[in-house]
Amino acid sequence: MMPSFGRRRTWTSLLVGLALFFILSRLRNLRYGGPDTFAFGAPAPSGSAHDKGPGYRHPPSRWTSLKLHYQVPSMRQFPKGQPLALPKVQKSFGSESASDRDVRLRRQAAVKKTFLRCWDSYRANAWLSDELAPVTGGKRDLFGGWGATLVDSLDTLWIMGLRSEFDEAVTAAANISFETTSLHEISVFETNIRYLGGFLAAYDLSGDKRLLQKAKEVGDMLYIAFDTPNRMPVARWNPHTASRGQYQTAQDSVLLAEIGSFSLEFIRLSLLTGDPKWFDAVQRIMEEFEKQQQTTQLPGMWPVVVNARTQAFNKHSDYTLGAMADSMYEYLPKTHALVGGLLPMYRDMYEAAMDTAIRYNLFRPMVPDEKDILMSGMVSTTTESGKIVATLRPEAQHLSCFIGGMFALGGKLIDNQTHVDKGEKLADGCVWAYQASPLGIMPEVFRMVPCKSADNCPWNEEEWMKAIVKTAGQNTEKLDVARAEALIAQKRLPRGFTNVQDTRYILRPEAIESVFILYRITGRPDLLESAWAMFEAIDLNTRTELANSAMGDVMVTDGKPSLSDSMESFWLGETLKYFYLVFSEPDVIDLDEYVFNTEAHPFKRLLPSS
Ligand SMILES: *[C@@H]1O[C@H](CO)[C@@H](O)[C@H](O)[C@H]1NC(C)=O
Ligand SMILES: *[C@@H]1O[C@H](CO)[C@@H](O)[C@H](O)[C@H]1NC(C)=O
Repeated sequence: MMPSFGRRRTWTSLLVGLALFFILSRLRNLRYGGPDTFAFGAPAPSGSAHDKGPGYRHPPSRWTSLKLHYQVPSMRQFPKGQPLALPKVQKSFGSESASDRDVRLRRQAAVKKTFLRCWDSYRANAWLSDELAPVTGGKRDLFGGWGATLVDSLDTLWIMGLRSEFDEAVTAAANISFETTSLHEISVFETNIRYLGGFLAAYDLSGDKRLLQKAKEVGDMLYIAFDTPNRMPVARWNPHTASRGQYQTAQDSVLLAEIGSFSLEFIRLSLLTGDPKWFDAVQRIMEEFEKQQQTTQLPGMWPVVVNARTQAFNKHSDYTLGAMADSMYEYLPKTHALVGGLLPMYRDMYEAAMDTAIRYNLFRPMVPDEKDILMSGMVSTTTESGKIVATLRPEAQHLSCFIGGMFALGGKLIDNQTHVDKGEKLADGCVWAYQASPLGIMPEVFRMVPCKSADNCPWNEEEWMKAIVKTAGQNTEKLDVARAEALIAQKRLPRGFTNVQDTRYILRPEAIESVFILYRITGRPDLLESAWAMFEAIDLNTRTELANSAMGDVMVTDGKPSLSDSMESFWLGETLKYFYLVFSEPDVIDLDEYVFNTEAHPFKRLLPSS
């Protein structure tokens, strides 16, 4: 498959033209043939890191000794003043019956057991590597080789109360050097959400200063990727040439998510260290997005591909909340929450963007039980005789399942019940898709039939069959029943699905993420049952001797599904964390005190002093 990208990586079949193909072909984390340790251009501080202490790398990182080519004339400063009391997010939960509690705790213990099994295997077989290969027991370094699974799991270990494992992991993580990598190119986005996010959250939870130090080291490294003439970051970044002081320019084609998902981590880091440079760096990007928000072909939203070099964020014609755009939108309400409303632009941008997305991207799919659910598709714009025409592609992606949680959380924060309701229907849409799939696991990407009316959507078998034939590329007015039946059998399509473009399940978190957020907001008990069914289906079907693995085809109706020997760090960092939290007491990582980054790392929100 294509390599990763978007909020939670992994590019599927959303071809949005050659430009993207070009980007993706460049996204592979190529192995670097040269020396591993960066050849810093500026003189290093005297003495090597190891001279100074028992195994820890000490500040300042050599990244801070590089001379910047493009200093900012003046730094933006974080606004002074009291954070606001934002509307309450979580429902007030009443008392729980003893039997409900028993069931919940048993389920929670099962999640923890699965986590520990994977963690122990990672520790035994792939310690300090980015990932364990869960079938063969090998290891992989695709995220810089800085122990992505280790860093992504720190806060999960803390939350699950695994203190001795946490202490051991922090000691190991404190010794990771961000002055060396075996990769030729790294994704600034992934490094930010996994490593910087992982350290910040583990620090916010535990208060261990070594973790803040590591967060700062990652931040100091990433800051160099912003040293370009217009201060836009180099999204796919060569740290080797950067360390030698080479001049850099931002790229012409970058994905919205790659350039628009820094605010949570960078602002939190500035707040914790008192150094405004990260806040300044992210504000320069977001102010530009704000300026151009109403100038795109789908005003309110930004296209999935933007030009970071020229700062044209309004040119392309594909608009989605899903893969490649995703966390750009997700970070708007979450940053509003993080800073306690002190930066109103985030709230304003979010409201305007969602107003457009509700109108164009969300659709109610036709399903056999006529359930009132929503999905979010891709919109493409064309100009026809001077007018812009928007066309919806009714596609559901597992990656897009985070949108339900985003709408519900965002709706609470901006006090708009319409948004909360949309969030609920979106989350229910993903639960529906899990239940409708043969193994109880939703595939990566599939198509559906959009209803003509969102209010009333009777199931129509003929229309479904017609859509199957049409999706397969044959556009006839008359229904070809034989052809439709052949396609249904061949593609093993459950009723409601018209095609499955990508049959994988790669241990993704987004569906349980939304179920967790909706549960905390609504307290609906059926969500706990859905969560448990999802967990059981996933754990059963992805389990290996060692851990859990991504699956090739969740649409199999006979025989054991094939496993692809991959366990990305988000399985321990996100998926199992959300499964654990949905079965926790509601005050564990209370959404009125914490906000999760796109890699499920919870940061402390600024709250008014009481
Ligand atoms: C830290 O890393 C160095 C090599 O990078 C290693 O020699 C040392 O033993 C490590 N210390 C700890 C405490 O893991
Ligand atoms: C709530 O959101 C909807 C959809 O974006 C919008 O039409 C409506 O005006 C909003 N309501 C308020 C009170 O802002």
